[in-house]
Amino acid sequence: MKLAIWVQLLAFVTAASAVQANEDMPEQLIDALNAVFGKHDVRASHAKGICVKGEFRPTATAKDLTKATPFAMTVPVLGRFSIGGGKPNIPDATKSAPRGFALRLEDAGGSHTDLVAISTPMFFASTPDQMLGFLKARAPSADGKPDQEKIKTFAAANPNTTRQGAWLSAHPVPASYAGVNYWPVHAYTLTNADAKPTTVKFKLTPLAGEAGLTDEEAKAKPADFYRTELEDRLNKAPVEFSLTAIIGKESDPTDDPSAMWPEESRRTAALGTVSITSIAGDTACDATTFDPANLAEGISAPAHDPIFAVRSPAYAVSLSRRQ
Ligand code: HEM
Repeated sequence: MKLAIWVQLLAFVTAASAVQANEDMPEQLIDALNAVFGKHDVRASHAKGICVKGEFRPTATAKDLTKATPFAMTVPVLGRFSIGGGKPNIPDATKSAPRGFALRLEDAGGSHTDLVAISTPMFFASTPDQMLGFLKARAPSADGKPDQEKIKTFAAANPNTTRQGAWLSAHPVPASYAGVNYWPVHAYTLTNADAKPTTVKFKLTPLAGEAGLTDEEAKAKPADFYRTELEDRLNKAPVEFSLTAIIGKESDPTDDPSAMWPEESRRTAALGTVSITSIAGDTACDATTFDPANLAEGISAPAHDPIFAVRSPAYAVSLSRRQ
């Protein structure tokens, strides 16, 4: 066989196995999460959480940025506060895990927009392969514990994967699910009725202000204190967050959720208020998955962000395994 044909054949085989590897990636990621946290027939990540209900009230100016229906009228919200990782009994005061806030803005036409946010402005990986490597380095070895040398070697070779952990250790444990900022971390494109696109990142800021615990206070908290804390708050008033759009500049990366935008020096636009009014039964949240790919017309996913692309199929694998 001529050399050129061999080269073409090799290129075909390599491309075919890359496609194969990508097809398997959602399953591989769920297996890797299960290997780190154990299999518990619950969400493979953000296993512990509280399902809530409320509404979203857009600002009058939100429609200048997006024509998406939930930004044109008050809509019902299904939400879930959670703690990162796949352990259903993780203590609420754990410092090393981000808090999660998933939001479903339901629109009158029966479709919805899911914004799935965490309490750090960055994710810990920029690609699915890197996430897989991060998790594999943390899987327990024969003695049942993760190998610290493997973790160090992986971190040295992948410095961007240390940003989230550094952020969490530099910030106090949130005193409440209602006392911390949340970011959906990816870059989205908003399009208004005049087809004008704007690249943004979203941020949710608690109207009650940020509230943190000292390490000593955190140690003294019962394992499940967030639920009673939230119940007490909701008995008095709704728990509210303002949703803002951080407006990106040309230089801001849109393909890497492990990279932060310099948000202090970016313009912002107020989009509305998320008002959580009650705790819902777990079934309302457990029967579904908050899928970041559920977006109303007028909000588009980042086109070249490989982490965003793998989330929807990975969440579907997790949903099918826990049902
Ligand atoms: C490759 C990347 C990722 C993978 C494989 C992954 C995996 C998962 C899985 C399996 C679930 C549970 C899904 C279910 O059973 O309903 C989940 C939930 C969640 N993830 Fe991710 N995730 C990824 C990226 C992210 C990112 C970038 C964020 C940051 C915003 C994030 C935030 C959350 C939150 C807040 C939940 C909880 C949703 C709920 O309360 O139901 N994840 N993730």
